[in-house]
Amino acid sequence: MSFDLVLFGGTGDLTWRKLMPALFQAFRHGKLPPGGRILAVARDERSDDAYREFIRDRFSEVESAKRPTDAEFDRFAQLLHYRRMDLSQPEHYAGLKRWIEEPTAEEGRSTPADTVVLFLATSPHLFTQICAQLGAARLNGPNVRVVLEKPLGHDLASAQEINRAVAASFTEQQALRIDHYLGKPSVQNLSALRFGNALFEPLWRRESIANIQITLAEEIGVGTRGEFYNQTGALRDMVQNHALQLLTMVAMEPPASNDADAIRDEKLKVLRSLKPFTPDSVARDVVRGQYRNGVVGGKTVPGYLEENKVPAGSRTETFVALRTEIQNWRWAGVPFYLRTGKRLAARDAQIVVNFRPVPHPIFPGANVANKLVIKLQPEDGLELHLMAAKGSGQSEALSPVFLDLDFDKAFATERVGGYERLLLDAIAGRLNLFVRSDEQEQAWRWVEPVLNAWEADDSGPRPYAPGSWGPPASSALVARDGYAWAEEQ
Ligand code: BG6
Repeated sequence: MSFDLVLFGGTGDLTWRKLMPALFQAFRHGKLPPGGRILAVARDERSDDAYREFIRDRFSEVESAKRPTDAEFDRFAQLLHYRRMDLSQPEHYAGLKRWIEEPTAEEGRSTPADTVVLFLATSPHLFTQICAQLGAARLNGPNVRVVLEKPLGHDLASAQEINRAVAASFTEQQALRIDHYLGKPSVQNLSALRFGNALFEPLWRRESIANIQITLAEEIGVGTRGEFYNQTGALRDMVQNHALQLLTMVAMEPPASNDADAIRDEKLKVLRSLKPFTPDSVARDVVRGQYRNGVVGGKTVPGYLEENKVPAGSRTETFVALRTEIQNWRWAGVPFYLRTGKRLAARDAQIVVNFRPVPHPIFPGANVANKLVIKLQPEDGLELHLMAAKGSGQSEALSPVFLDLDFDKAFATERVGGYERLLLDAIAGRLNLFVRSDEQEQAWRWVEPVLNAWEADDSGPRPYAPGSWGPPASSALVARDGYAWAEEQ
């Protein structure tokens, strides 16, 4: 199955930081279908060779194991082609159409591709315009798919506007919204754990589970992204999309099949069942924070307000912790805690399922409840915490132990990264791991009252020390229910 992958924003950050390394990995692993072209377009004039050299240079910033050798890059570079394109000019879309429909033998293929994937790796404010132009140029035939990268809007109205513009030119089946967390192998393993095994399903409910915690923590600060981040904040950047997608995967009902819509229907039901926020519940159940400067690992790091391009007095949050509930029969009354932030104590993404303690302890000593830790990164695995007898003969008290499953070890083959998986799925037309417009809009609908309440509240984010787990109010939020975050247990 031959393909053309068109990268709008072909010289931008997303292209060289994420997409090219992912495409190269897919190429190296022999996973890219043969007969493919990668057609990059951007504003400035350059030859194919100059573009290839530009990408080759950028690979020096990629982690070394994922960097091509010169010979590997030379082979990969044969797939790369470049043209200048002014995204406001209709004739440039007509030119792109000809490029797609009339490939040349020097570009490796002289017949049109079976599949065309248009990846909008540009600033989102261009999405509406690009989609309208693609439609007008009839670059929207049945073999065409368009891939949209977040942020898709900054609130419900702007997300709906983008979705309307996309829908005017493409069907829902042709529009692929990326949430790169869904491409992570560990996230697919969450589905495998729940729906490929019978073991946990009977326990996966309010009767057995005390609470669920989702943590997406980063050690890095906002770095060079101050301008973008300051208009975004952690709630829009991580909660509206990644954290909520994980929550839907943990909480959804078993879908009738593994088809994209069967899964997305179930995820949407979870989003619709989330307890809506009111100004009072935002004040009670949502904590926002902003990192201060300090010393981490012997190094002084700037506070958020000292980061490049962050305006003085900014109230943008770099940390969010919140408590919510899912109002349905399976989950009624079970707290779901979500937190994410920058400059935290560790790079750590995990879902912790805390089970209820035994109803009637018969052993002396602590009665520690079971928990299942689904580790998304940096490692990718599962830990099941159990109580066991040491057998030392000195005491009858039990000790906590855990079963530790490391997926990298369990599957000796190289695991496929998020973008690699999603790009291959986009080319193959597998939609399961892409977000549907109604899911995305519902997620905005749910976070919007939080944004509005913050807007109206002068108190601003709470400061926290870099290298910590966020403001103390985050621990208090969980402690109020008699629980603790995983690292405090
Ligand atoms: C992106 C956010 O969507 O996800 C970034 O915009 C964040 O701010 C990144 O750093 C985290 O992704 P990962 O895969 O490194 O956990």
